[in-house]
Amino acid sequence: MPRVFSGIQPTGDLHLGNLLGAVRNWVQDQHVADSFYCVVDLHALTVPKEPGEVGRSSLEMAQTLLACGLDPDVCTLFVQSHVREHSELAWLIQCVTSIGELRRMTQFKDKADKQDFVSAGLFTYPALQAADILLYDTDRVPVGEDQRQHIELTRDVAERFNARYGNTFVIPEATVPRAGARVMDLQVPTDKMSKSADSDAGVVYLMEDLAATARKFKRAVTDSDGDVRFDPATKPGVSNLLSILGAVTDRSPEDLADEYTQYGPLKSDTADAVVEVLRPIQERFAELVEDPTGTGELLAIGAEKATAVASDVYRRAVDQVGLLPRV
Ligand code: TRP
Repeated sequence: MPRVFSGIQPTGDLHLGNLLGAVRNWVQDQHVADSFYCVVDLHALTVPKEPGEVGRSSLEMAQTLLACGLDPDVCTLFVQSHVREHSELAWLIQCVTSIGELRRMTQFKDKADKQDFVSAGLFTYPALQAADILLYDTDRVPVGEDQRQHIELTRDVAERFNARYGNTFVIPEATVPRAGARVMDLQVPTDKMSKSADSDAGVVYLMEDLAATARKFKRAVTDSDGDVRFDPATKPGVSNLLSILGAVTDRSPEDLADEYTQYGPLKSDTADAVVEVLRPIQERFAELVEDPTGTGELLAIGAEKATAVASDVYRRAVDQVGLLPRV
C-alpha cells in the first residue's frame, strides 16, 4: 500500500471547505493507503499563541477529525509534538535548505505581512513541514492547491539530501483534489470559503448550529438571470451551490443543474443535504468531547505507531549524515 501523510494546523474551527476539500479525502484514503494524519501543533506556534491555547485546540482538532470519520484502527492519527523526531529531523532539513528557497515561499510572504512579530519559525516552517513528510517515507501528500509550493520544496530538499549524503528519503508527490472540490464563500462566491473571511455569513462551520447552516444557504448570494447552470466563471454563486450539493450527494454539478429551474429549491435542497452530513458529525463530536481521556489514549496509540516509523527513518538520516554515534 502506498504511504500517505498529511497535516493540519490546530487553529480555528473547521468549515465545509475543509471537510469537502481535504478531510473527506483523508477519510477515503485511509482505506486504500497506509495513512498518517498529523495535528501539526508545532507549526501553529509559528505565530504568537496564548499559554495552553495550542494544547486545547489540538485536542479539539483531533476530536473533530475523528468525528468526521478518521478511524484510528485504520489510519494513524497523532499530534506532531508527541513524536520528537519531527523537530529533530527539521534541523537536519534546515541545514540543506537555503534562505533563498525559504524567501520564495508565497505563504511565508503572505503570513509575514500580517504579523508584527515575524518569528524565525515562521520562516523555517516549510523545513519542518518537509521533515513531517520525509519522516514517513511518504509517497503521496494530499493537500490543497496552496500547499503545492511547500511540497515542491520538500522534493527539492529531499533530492539535495539524497545527492549529498546518499539515498535516504523517498521523494513524495502532492495530490491536489480537482477544482470541483473547491468550496466558495456563500456570500462572496468568487472567494474560497475561509475562516479569515470578513463575515461568517458565507462560511459554514462544521460544529455550528444547524438552523444557522440552513439560513446561510437560504441567504446565499446567487445572481439575477434566474437560470440554473453550472458555470463557475459567470455564475459563481449558483455553481458553488451545485458543486456543494454534488459533493455531498456524489453527483456531478452539471447533472444536478438539469434538475432545477429555480434558485429557491436548489438552495433548500443543498441546505438539507449539508445539514444531513453535518448532523452525525456533530453527534459524534459531542460524544468525544464527553470523554477527553479516551481521545488522549487514542492519540497516544497514534504517537506510538508514528514513532515506530519516524524513529527508523530519523536514524537512517543521522547515519547517512555520519554524526558521531553515542556509545
Ligand atoms: N502547511 C500545511 C497547511 O497549512 C500544514 C502541514 C504541516 C502539512 N505539515 C504538513 C500538510 C505535512 C501536509 C504535509 O495546510
